[in-house]
Amino acid sequence: MSEFTLPAALKSAKPAIGIVLGSGLGGLVDLLDKAKSFDYAEIGGLPVGSVEGHAGKLHLGTLGGVKVAVAQGRVHVYEGRSAREAASMMRLFHQLGIGTVVLTNAAGIVNANLKPGRWMLISDHLNLARQSPLTGGPHFIDQSEVYSVELRNLLRAESLELVGVKLAEGIYAWVNGPEYETPAEVRMLRTLGADAVGMSTVPEAIQARALGMRIAALSCLTNYGAGLSAHPLSHEEVMEVGKAAAKELFTLLESAIPAMEEI
Ligand code: HPA
Repeated sequence: MSEFTLPAALKSAKPAIGIVLGSGLGGLVDLLDKAKSFDYAEIGGLPVGSVEGHAGKLHLGTLGGVKVAVAQGRVHVYEGRSAREAASMMRLFHQLGIGTVVLTNAAGIVNANLKPGRWMLISDHLNLARQSPLTGGPHFIDQSEVYSVELRNLLRAESLELVGVKLAEGIYAWVNGPEYETPAEVRMLRTLGADAVGMSTVPEAIQARALGMRIAALSCLTNYGAGLSAHPLSHEEVMEVGKAAAKELFTLLESAIPAMEEI
């Protein structure tokens, strides 16, 4: 038995690539050549989130001529959900036959050499929330290359060529939230080797990896972590910076997605 009950139009869709949009990045959907949209509530078995800026819609469309499924909004562990629930979209993508996923998020800067408003390719992660979507199995899944080197090379090259931007690359630390970090925690994260910090993506990446999918993940660096700048953090700031960066992501994905299909 399949985990999710699908509306007929979703059952027959056959998208090649799945994309998850993080906080403030939903604007990318307006640029998409959309065929059909579904509320998460229309898909049996899919949890519905409660956070502002996470609309909870799955869009089918094309990007650079490739069929994509775009999830606008995700559920988080800080909403009281399990890591397994937070990773539901990956199991849905897998049920739809998707083999490659692009995960995006908004993240705080931990490495002060990085700049707000820029994108960072995730090369690896720290699971500091210490929860896993694989609790209960499958056990002992290899994590030595969660984020595909092939896809990272491609995105780096496309970004330079197309957007004229040298993509930053680094380690994303997953923390529970829902509060932002203290300055002491941001210093701790840096000591542990993190470049950016956020409250999502890692459960999905672990789940997608376990399902044998290829993963690319990008953080929109929306703000300096606490203590690295003089002003306090706000969700509004995170949303604003994300909105401005969504266009750049769209340009990058429009050319990178057809190329992903070829490798
Ligand atoms: N910390 C954690 N999560 C975040 C941040 C942050 O500074 N900015 C956006 N998401």
